[in-house]
Amino acid sequence: MGLLSRGALVIIVVGIGAAGLLRFQQPAEPKKAPFEELRPGLFRHSLDVSPVPQVFHLPVSTWLLRGADQHSWILVDTGISLTSASFKAALKSKLTSPADKLKLILLTHGHSDHTEGLPWLLQDHPEALVAFHEKETRFITGKSQYAEVDGEHWSWNVVKHTLNVNSSQPTERCTTFTGDEGDVSTSLSSAIPDVSSWLPPDFLRYVHTPGHAPGHVSYIHKPTSSLIAGDVLFRITSSLRLQHPLSFLTPNMTLVKESQKRLAARSDIKTIFPTHDLGAGADISDLRVWIQRGYTS
Ligand SMILES: *[C@@H]1O[C@H](CO)[C@@H](O)[C@H](O)[C@H]1NC(C)=O
Ligand SMILES: *[C@@H]1O[C@H](CO)[C@@H](O)[C@H](O)[C@H]1NC(C)=O
Repeated sequence: MGLLSRGALVIIVVGIGAAGLLRFQQPAEPKKAPFEELRPGLFRHSLDVSPVPQVFHLPVSTWLLRGADQHSWILVDTGISLTSASFKAALKSKLTSPADKLKLILLTHGHSDHTEGLPWLLQDHPEALVAFHEKETRFITGKSQYAEVDGEHWSWNVVKHTLNVNSSQPTERCTTFTGDEGDVSTSLSSAIPDVSSWLPPDFLRYVHTPGHAPGHVSYIHKPTSSLIAGDVLFRITSSLRLQHPLSFLTPNMTLVKESQKRLAARSDIKTIFPTHDLGAGADISDLRVWIQRGYTS
């Protein structure tokens, strides 16, 4: 795609996005979706929040993992307000026994479509702790705005001032990950002393995958070799090809590509599950082939 047509595309997408944000404010027809078990013990709730699905799709997912004791549950991301009613009902239908507890809420990053569910989740689930990468702390706690992040692409530098990505969240009950990657259980063992009884070591890894947000992380569910990718990759066209995250929402695509390459080189991932995925996961080989071909399809 030439520079001009790419620019034109961005303008169209930004226009549709802006129109969409206006629509997000209005009460929409409540849609309902269940948590679907995509791999054993790995469930996804996904709703298309596009105001004009005839023109573009924007599925938003949240993930639920069953802990090793069968009754402790771990969430990855919390959705946007538009998905909350459905997400709340879906979660309730998964946590049915009195022994079922939501113990941990992991965030991939602080953008509002991943964090708007946090306030009600913290209220409804008093045992739950929240964890994210330390490089995302200032945004998630509202000390910084994403508009302070310099971008490579002009569209980010324009849109960052208008997009509502203030995800100021309660700081109590939050804990952080550090470094390039690590084991989730081991990293949380001082914040949650009994963590290994329901989230054993080598069950879940975090991998720092910056670019879309400075502290963006992806999570690897080791029992199923699944990558809960967050926004390091998108898949929102009907061709179901892997895509870069939308450039007007992504300050540093150079870093995104480096993150994608590090993921492609790993041997512990079979399937990639982006947050914004019209399908049900892409094979890791799709990413490797796409990178080998220099991101042409
Ligand atoms: C973000 O929004 C919250 C609530 O709307 C507000 O209290 C807070 O000051 C905002 N944070 C920043 C950094 O502007
Ligand atoms: C994006 O990341 C690259 C690689 O780390 C860095 O060299 C560059 O300065 C970054 N760009 C911006 C605008 O921050």
